[in-house]
Amino acid sequence: MAKIRASFVCQACGTVSPKWLGRCPSCQAWESLVEEPLAPTSTGNSITYKLTPLAAAREAQAPRTLTGLSELDRVLGGGLVAGMVVLVGGEPGIGKSTLMLQLAASLETGAAPVLYVSAEESTRQVGLRAGRLGATGQSVMLLPETGLESILAAWREGAFSAVIVDSIQAVRAGELAGAPGSVGQVRFCAAEFANLAKEIGTALFLVGHVTKEGSLAGPRVLEHLVDTVLYFESEPAMRLRLLRAVKNRFGATDEVGVFEMTDLGLAPVQNPSAVFLAHRPADAPGSAVCAAMSGTRPLLVEVQALVSPSGLAMPRRQALGVDPGRLNMLCAVLNIHAGLDLSGYDVFVNVAGGIKLTEPAADLAVAVAVMRSLAARPVPADVVCFGEVGLAGELRAVSRTSARLSEAARQGFKRALSAPGKHGRTKGIHLLSASRLDAALHLLA
Ligand code: TYD
Ligand code: MG
Repeated sequence: MAKIRASFVCQACGTVSPKWLGRCPSCQAWESLVEEPLAPTSTGNSITYKLTPLAAAREAQAPRTLTGLSELDRVLGGGLVAGMVVLVGGEPGIGKSTLMLQLAASLETGAAPVLYVSAEESTRQVGLRAGRLGATGQSVMLLPETGLESILAAWREGAFSAVIVDSIQAVRAGELAGAPGSVGQVRFCAAEFANLAKEIGTALFLVGHVTKEGSLAGPRVLEHLVDTVLYFESEPAMRLRLLRAVKNRFGATDEVGVFEMTDLGLAPVQNPSAVFLAHRPADAPGSAVCAAMSGTRPLLVEVQALVSPSGLAMPRRQALGVDPGRLNMLCAVLNIHAGLDLSGYDVFVNVAGGIKLTEPAADLAVAVAVMRSLAARPVPADVVCFGEVGLAGELRAVSRTSARLSEAARQGFKRALSAPGKHGRTKGIHLLSASRLDAALHLLA
């Protein structure tokens, strides 16, 4: 006989406790524990298992299916894999449902349709959106349903090429007592969906809301359960939507998909470098262009620095888009190895366009921006920078130099400041290379 047990689950982080506590021992949230019955655990004694030789598993490598949305394919790591479970998180109104409907409409499915489970909106609402998007929806089946059991039944009965559940927080399992959206419900329903996706080999997309307050009750507790986690973020100043892979078992996690929300839905941004550089102020000191890599794509972004006299005993070092620890290190290296006394100054660094530069290749651009802000001299407009700065003040070559240089040439830049490397020449780009940071800074006239 299956037995049902109860436990207390933190609604903020998903920590499970056998008894009620006033404060979650894991995330320290107050009064966040709610009683939830656990799923019945099967106590059957017929245990079966199947061993598979690795060689056989290797051969069974699944081919990729392109979704037809190039930016989505990019963050997925080159398209869909059968049985892949993808979580799409983001704040309400960011465009998750729009992206999912566009995905459903554009998937080259052949014979099998896409199942779109609309747990939050009526068929009419989804139909209206499809009309706005100009989606014909020939091969999309809508299911306005919130009951887990009905959805699973519909999924099993029809043969679908992909299944989209919008959203996982609105789905409810009848056998659990919790309300839809509670940690127990979300986790249980997602696990059931994921199991079926793996069993049948259907790609599954789960939509999850993240609220502005950072209450991550939904998506965060699912991250370990899915293969890929994509987060949708907005860049209000540029009206962009950035789709980031936070976790990906089938690809890199530093890929960013760049979209623009238009009247006809989300449009891929063809030339992101141009968009990120569009608002660059001319002749402003403290602005340097970094030839960065965003996953597999070279991307030119503007790094801004503001160095201003500080009245504080401990001047501020603030960084947005680059690691604050890295900025501290660069300030120290600039001080010791380039003779830049920043001790009486606050240093602020920002990467325009909401892009996060995680690679050390951004070091040189940050150093140049800081140095030029202090000196109140603009960086020549035709120069891009990239290179890793070491603690000894040395400049190190970075990967994918040719790709960075080609992108710089494509965007009309004429000179590149970097470390000497073994890469070949790039047409239209004159290399300014130095093996030390101070020498590199002097190369900029
Ligand atoms: P939506 O996809 O419903 O967001 P989510 O599912 O993440 O909550 O809608 C996002 C916003 O985009 C909504 O405010 C309306 C707007 N929008 C457009 O600007 N153009 C369009 O073509 C569509 C469909 C929506
Ligand atoms: Mg929605």
